Amino acid sequence: MFPKETYIQRREQLKTRVRSGVVLLLGNGESPMNYAANTYPFRQDSTFLYFFGLDQPGLAAVLDRDEGTECLFGDDPSLDDIVWTGPRPLLRDRSQEVGVMQTAPGKELGQVLSEAARQGRIIHTLPQYRAENARRIADCGLRIADSRGDIPPSPALIRAVVEQRSIKSPEEIEQIEMALGVTTRMQTAAMKMAKPGVFEYEVAGAMEGIMASNGVRPAFPPIFSVRGEIMHNPYYDNRLQDGDIAINDSGAESPLHYAGDITRTIPVGGRFSSRQKEIYAIVLNAQERAIAAAAPGIEWREVHRLAAVALMEGLKELGVVRGDPQEAVAAGAHTLFFPTGVGHMMGLDVHDMEPLGEDYVGYTDTIRRNPEFGWRYLRLAKPVEPGFVITVEPGIYFIPALIDRRRAEGKCSQFIDYGKVETYRTFGGIRIEDDILITPEGCRVLGPPIPKTIAEVEVLASA
Ligand code: GLY
Repeated sequence: MFPKETYIQRREQLKTRVRSGVVLLLGNGESPMNYAANTYPFRQDSTFLYFFGLDQPGLAAVLDRDEGTECLFGDDPSLDDIVWTGPRPLLRDRSQEVGVMQTAPGKELGQVLSEAARQGRIIHTLPQYRAENARRIADCGLRIADSRGDIPPSPALIRAVVEQRSIKSPEEIEQIEMALGVTTRMQTAAMKMAKPGVFEYEVAGAMEGIMASNGVRPAFPPIFSVRGEIMHNPYYDNRLQDGDIAINDSGAESPLHYAGDITRTIPVGGRFSSRQKEIYAIVLNAQERAIAAAAPGIEWREVHRLAAVALMEGLKELGVVRGDPQEAVAAGAHTLFFPTGVGHMMGLDVHDMEPLGEDYVGYTDTIRRNPEFGWRYLRLAKPVEPGFVITVEPGIYFIPALIDRRRAEGKCSQFIDYGKVETYRTFGGIRIEDDILITPEGCRVLGPPIPKTIAEVEVLASA
């Protein structure tokens, strides 16, 4: 954990932002795989970790803004728990480690909240992404659910949490760099392993092993696939063949659960073909231009647009695209090749704070999400600030179903040579991703350098 003062200060800041009422923050419980005692690895809720640091299941906290009190709710292990899973520190002792002086048994949470509700006090909650936690709130007898069964969360609390978690402190950056240290080992190991005849699952498994042997877990399920045009391909069943390119989008968590998120594209067999080199160089140029543009005050949607223009300029040189690249992007032609966003906030979650609502995290009252295909996947659009950690991950993807649809519609045919696009039909995709910190002067790429130029990647891939 961070020092106790970190958590105390974070909660103090939260209390100045949320001016009145009762703040309820729920930790996560265990999540069963196939029966109650056989659980997925425990992952604490990130906002709970941020304010309390306690990485164990079954906790909840109430910050009473009006009374100035803080209380952690949870249960000490029973004798049965001790027999089966071993002794654990008492909640009273753990809560003192993070500066919370009051504790109560878990079953008292409902009474405290019901009493606050009975008194007509505001109870601030966050959106719940786990059914058990939504149920816990419902069971407390609060204003239960809207017509969809959702608990109405508190915009004031969401905004306060987003403001705080968006700005990473030096100790948080240190954690992200630790995550990236392990991620670098995963990435370089994958480059060396990606040889013809190897199955994707062997490489994914080796990366999981690197994380496990460093005592950490994945920030998200690793994506390792020769079908790189599928953004979040969860399968590892292909056997690598000479001439393939494999996308490796993977990242470890740090010991305190901060994410790393890096993508490299690897030539199976050690050498990119000339066609692969051409597309790779375009993506790398777009990524470098996006990183060069990243500085306080720039709207991230503008960085996305700049990256898209760079991609279109490169594709124009190959004859895949024609016309003015700026106009092509304004018309949405780029979304045929680049339907994703150029980057997202990263921190305790790899898509940081996504459960709180992407529009709270990445948009403002005046910068609204563009609902057009491609643009709508952009998770961050607003001006960036020192302390933001963001991924920069442009890519070029040839998605057969999308090509077919667009060609049939004749969409943007003034900008796209569909005949030429057809020659890339089985190409796959190339993505290059780094994680940056916005600094007062511009930005800094986080983590150890990971081979990225064509020459650097080929050296490792052919080792
Ligand atoms: N790197 C995985 C993701 O951003 O979703």
